[in-house]
Amino acid sequence: MPNSLCLLHASPRKHGNGAAICAAIASHLAQRGFSARLVHLEAEHIHPCTACGSCAENPGRCIYDALEGDLARQVLESIAQAPALLIVAPVWFYGPPAHLKALIDRSQLFWEQNGGPMQGPQRPAWNVLTAGRRKGERLFEAGSLILRCFERQMGFAPKEGLELRGLDSPGDFSASAEAQEQLKAWSAGLKWA
Ligand SMILES: Cc1cc2nc3c(=O)[nH]c(=O)nc-3n(C[C@H](O)[C@H](O)[C@H](O)COP(=O)(O)O)c2cc1C
Repeated sequence: MPNSLCLLHASPRKHGNGAAICAAIASHLAQRGFSARLVHLEAEHIHPCTACGSCAENPGRCIYDALEGDLARQVLESIAQAPALLIVAPVWFYGPPAHLKALIDRSQLFWEQNGGPMQGPQRPAWNVLTAGRRKGERLFEAGSLILRCFERQMGFAPKEGLELRGLDSPGDFSASAEAQEQLKAWSAGLKWA
């Protein structure tokens, strides 16, 4: 559907906490008449940026677009065209997982193409971050900062996200009534034009 939220699932676990969270978000949205388009970020198919400078010389082009199986361009185009974006990602060493950071770095081609952040009406973006630990005052700080920076450069206005602690094993979200309630309450605030 053209007005669907781009729901980017950035854990390599296909049946982990992030996957269950995405399913719950899609269901909450559907109940309110909104739709989401799930994009699972395939960790093996995002080649990291190598700072070759080619996108600066040829704005909008990346040498890895031609790499067989590479999905970065496709995922970035989906994000660029979406009316709203929601990223669901685990915290890895206090930041985003490497393949999500690789996707973010590959978006440099948009920066070169636009001469800075994407202009136009700012679309809303949200992040749901999960972490195994329960403690750690700054557990989500770096990940949130990096994702918000990415969203701004892609033409989004980052909104208040959700940070869920104590979700380590794949089934932890599905087993936690508290986390499910938190997500449901937070999801009620998701809306876009
Ligand atoms: C490589 C790696 C690094 C991790 N680093 C952290 C960390 O710094 N802090 C933390 O609380 N949990 C950490 N975790 C645990 C994950 O955040 C947790 O398992 C995640 O929320 C699970 O989400 P998923 O099932 O969607 O993958 C790490 C997990 C992995 C695999």
